[in-house]
Amino acid sequence: MALVRLDKALSDQGMWSRKDVKSLVRKGRVAVNGCPETDPGRKVDRQEDRVTVDGREIALKEHLYLMLHKPAGVVSATRDVRERTVVDLVPPQLRRPGLFPAGRLDKDTTGMMILTDDGELAHRILSPRSHVPKTYIARLDRPVTEEMVRAFAAGIPLKGEGECLPATLRVRGEQEGEVTICEGMYHQIKRMFAVCGATVLTLKRISMGGLALDPALAEGACRELTAEELELLERRTPPEIGEIAQGGEAD
Ligand code: URA
Repeated sequence: MALVRLDKALSDQGMWSRKDVKSLVRKGRVAVNGCPETDPGRKVDRQEDRVTVDGREIALKEHLYLMLHKPAGVVSATRDVRERTVVDLVPPQLRRPGLFPAGRLDKDTTGMMILTDDGELAHRILSPRSHVPKTYIARLDRPVTEEMVRAFAAGIPLKGEGECLPATLRVRGEQEGEVTICEGMYHQIKRMFAVCGATVLTLKRISMGGLALDPALAEGACRELTAEELELLERRTPPEIGEIAQGGEAD
């Protein structure tokens, strides 16, 4: 049982500041298990206690997990003075303090991003030691060759960073490959192909862990993950090819 202050539990949901919550509580607009509560410091159990504001039940989630379909032209940051960020794409009803992108995609890369306020989860899915796979579709300026497939499997050497972990490259079309890596070095896939003499024209992330990009999620849209999807995110095996095929067209 994790007990937390009522004002924190409510302000964590992103709808009110801590100050606003204190004022709502003092005005008697907040109830815990049906009884009006006037102490903002009262401890509540997020799972067990039923909290309402003006009679409306508020789910007290500890963390938020969103899947975003990142479009090109948006930067993977929380805030930026010049550019639109992935967090700017989140509609107000899904915003909450501390939301950040778990990992980075280049400005021109599209596809699946996870936004969360859970730093531990982000670390677990991003650390190369966790071996959580990330799969991308890359469209190249030339054919994907068997030589590239072998080089990716052996571990591509990147200048100044040693050898990449072995990666899987599958041929999807004449100039299109599906790449799975377990790391996230700067421009990693573009640099891996560059070592093989190819330029990446477009890049799209189609899965993380065992979770595929939702094909119904339009570019720029986001939605909350289900509990089952959250578990899939930490799986060490990518989804079956068939599961991701629909969502997998390179842009
Ligand atoms: N590799 C890249 O080169 N770019 C990305 O955005 C992600 C992986």
